[in-house]
Amino acid sequence: MAPADSGLFDRLEQFYDALPRPWARVEEIGSLDLFVREGEGWPYYARPRLGSHTPSAADIIETRRRQRDLGVPEAFEWVHECSPDLLAVARSAGLDVLLAPLLVLDPAALVPDLPIRDARIRYLDPASPAFAADLRAARAVARLGFGAPAYRAPLEVVENTLVIDGAGPAERDAFEELTPEAVQATRVMLESGDYVTAVAESPAEGILATATSQRVGQVAEVVGVATLPSARNRGYASQLTATLTGRLLARGVDLVLLSAGDDDVARLYTRVGFRRVGTACVAQPAAVPL
Ligand SMILES: CC(C)(COP(=O)(O)OP(=O)(O)OC[C@H]1O[C@@H](n2cnc3c(N)ncnc32)[C@H](O)[C@@H]1OP(=O)(O)O)[C@@H](O)C(=O)NCCC(=O)NCCS
Repeated sequence: MAPADSGLFDRLEQFYDALPRPWARVEEIGSLDLFVREGEGWPYYARPRLGSHTPSAADIIETRRRQRDLGVPEAFEWVHECSPDLLAVARSAGLDVLLAPLLVLDPAALVPDLPIRDARIRYLDPASPAFAADLRAARAVARLGFGAPAYRAPLEVVENTLVIDGAGPAERDAFEELTPEAVQATRVMLESGDYVTAVAESPAEGILATATSQRVGQVAEVVGVATLPSARNRGYASQLTATLTGRLLARGVDLVLLSAGDDDVARLYTRVGFRRVGTACVAQPAAVPL
C-alpha cells in the first residue's frame, strides 16, 4: 500500500469507528466492536476494533450469538485493505461476504449540477410540517429501490413504447405511515446537521429517488442511494450523489466516500467523479448456517 493510501485508509477507519458512536452503545467482544443502536433507527453492525488484531472466528460466533439475543441483524462490516485476513475468517465462521467497491471522490472530477428530467432536487427539512410525509415517501422509495437491485429494471414494450417495468409511485404510496418515534429519531439525526437526505421529486409523481450523506468532521459518506424502478435511467441517482457531494465540499468536508453494491453501480459513481480505492466487506449469515 502506498503511503498516501495508508493515510487514506486510516481516515476511513477513524470515520467508520466514529460514525455510530453518538447513536449507539458499544459492546466489546474479542477484537470486535458491536454497535447497538440506542432508541429507534436502522440497526448497526459489528466491526473490527480500531487498532486491534484480526478478529477470530470465535469472536464472530460470539458476536452473532449476542446479536441474536438482542434481536438485531447478524451484520458485520469492515474495509478489506485494513483487515485483509478477516475475509477468510468470516467465511469460516459461516458468513456470506459481499465485496462492495469502495470509492472516494476526486474533487477535481466532480460533475457539475446538470438539469434532470421532470424533477427537481430538494433536501428533507426536519422542521417542515411535511417532514413525516416526505420521510415516509423517501423510505418507501429506498425500500422499493433496494428491493429491485437489478441495476436496470427490465424493459418492456407497451403499445409500441419502451417502458421500464417495476414498482412506481402507486407502490410507494401503499407503504404504511412511520411511527412518531421513527420520525422523531430521524428528525434528531437531520437536526444534528451531520445527516442530510436529498430527494428527486417530480411535480406529477412525487418523490422518485433519495440519497443521504452522513458526516463525521471532514469526512462524509453517501449512502442509501435508490431510485424507484419506474424512474430509473433519468439521471436521478447520479445527480443526487453529485448534489449531496457538492454540498459537503462547500461545507468543509475534504473526503467523501461511498460503497457501491456492485461494479455496475460503481460505474455510475465513477461518472460522478469517484474512483475506486478498495473493497468494503458487508457480511451476514450464509444461507445455510454452520
Ligand atoms: C443504482 C440506482 C440507484 C441507479 O439509479 P438511477 O436513478 O437509475 O441512476 P442514473 O439514472 O443516474 O444512472 C443510471 C444510468 O442512466 C444513465 N443516465 C443518466 N441520465 C440519463 C438520462 N437523462 N437519460 C438516460 N439515461 C441516463 C446513466 O449514465 C447511467 O448509465 P449506465 O447504466 O451506462 O451507467 C438504482 O438502480 C437503484 O435504486 N438500485 C437499487 C439500489 C442500489 O443498488 N443503490 C446503490 C447502492 S450503492
